Amino acid sequence: MQTLKSKGIQAFSISVKKNKKIFIETYGCQMNFSDSEIVASVLSEKQFEITTNIDEAGVILINTCSIRDHAEQRVRHRLTQLSHVKRKKPGTIIGVIGCMAERLKEKLLEEEHMVDLILGPDAYRSLPSLLEEVEAGQKGINVLLSNEETYADINPVRYSSNGVSAFISIMRGCENFCSYCVVPFTRGKERSRDPETIINEARNLFDNGYKEITLLGQNVNSYKWKSVDKDFSFSDLLEKIALINPLLRLRFATSHPKDIPDVLLHTIAKYPNIARSVHLPVQSGSTRILQMMNRKYTHEIYLERIDAIKKIIPDCTVSTDIITGFCSETEDDFQETVSLMKEAAFEFAYMFKYSERPDTTAQKKFKDDIPEGIKTKRLQQIIDLQHVLSMESNKKDIGRICDVLIDNVSKRSKDFYSGRNSENKVVILPKGNFKIGDYATVKITRCTAATLFGEIIN
Ligand code: 5AD
Ligand code: SF4
Repeated sequence: MQTLKSKGIQAFSISVKKNKKIFIETYGCQMNFSDSEIVASVLSEKQFEITTNIDEAGVILINTCSIRDHAEQRVRHRLTQLSHVKRKKPGTIIGVIGCMAERLKEKLLEEEHMVDLILGPDAYRSLPSLLEEVEAGQKGINVLLSNEETYADINPVRYSSNGVSAFISIMRGCENFCSYCVVPFTRGKERSRDPETIINEARNLFDNGYKEITLLGQNVNSYKWKSVDKDFSFSDLLEKIALINPLLRLRFATSHPKDIPDVLLHTIAKYPNIARSVHLPVQSGSTRILQMMNRKYTHEIYLERIDAIKKIIPDCTVSTDIITGFCSETEDDFQETVSLMKEAAFEFAYMFKYSERPDTTAQKKFKDDIPEGIKTKRLQQIIDLQHVLSMESNKKDIGRICDVLIDNVSKRSKDFYSGRNSENKVVILPKGNFKIGDYATVKITRCTAATLFGEIIN
């Protein structure tokens, strides 16, 4: 899962209790970025101090991702670099938190000697006490998964925020067990968070000037909460948050194609402040491969859901995730993916080569038998195709008018802002009299495959 800021790294630091400031570096998906904000809050509440300058940190926490082998290798490489930091500054505490900590547990302490602390995604509340233990000279580890933990009462510290967009975790864990995926093992059972706490968090964000909220979960469509008088679905939750204020734009990720019901699509259509963009990972276009992946839908069912989205929300864009070279994928299977991409005409796609993950069903039952060269060739083919599809979609926007939420100064020129429209496309516009956090009405005048450019019309 993840649109998104997901493929990045990001660092920050809080200032500290006693003599050690804490620095947090985040790898992986949006959920990890959101979790780092929870970790920052847990620490701040116990008077630990956080810093954004690694040079003044006494504790370095790496929030990690296990989704592909490459993600883990990046962290291992970073840990090697940090062992040099530790040599120069003895007493520095290095902690590995998140998915890699959960997957490897004590093994990581044996393999990476510079690591002092291992903390799984459901154990963040124990971080302050574990830090005390480590400070006293022990190694610290807590990788207990929980059936209940949702950090519902924690008010995340939005340390790296632009003050415009924020994430809210609405559920944790995943029980879909897609055969290639490590997440059900690293993040445990699926559980939803009390809607009252989510709605309050959203309201507080809006009152503090935020204009865009992304509701996060591995599979948001299966959000459910039972209260005394009624069951509360994801669609109900979305509606409640949309009603906070029409100027609060709502996004959500990720949806599973097996359960994106019409009722949810009607809720999106009803509220203009729910973004016209759905992230719906397809993974493969071959029904045979989808079955091996345990995705619980076929090529045809997926396309039927795309039709439903376009019919109920005509201006909606769709993005996706695709894996090439899954076990036994033939050229014909791959061509099914190519044909589905063309038919769905995705606006955007995250594309990956299959990476076998230990203990998953795919690792136990199937052979990772597609040569690396073929995985790479197929990946490049769909990257090229997606480029064409994105360009075609963007060209259709020329001449259209849209509302852009300005979230940054353009990287290319300080005279321009960048923002996103409701369809989640990046739009570059002249600064005019606007400021970051404003909505601007923009007419699109030109495009590349990745970006729209426009002029202000209000
Ligand atoms: N190999 C490659 N890609 C994977 N993903 C999940 N597990 C793997 C894996 N083992 C991709 C899926 C998912 C996205 C977050 O990462 O496309 O939707
Ligand atoms: Fe992994 Fe599938 Fe769960 Fe997504 S829905 S986190 S791909 S198991």
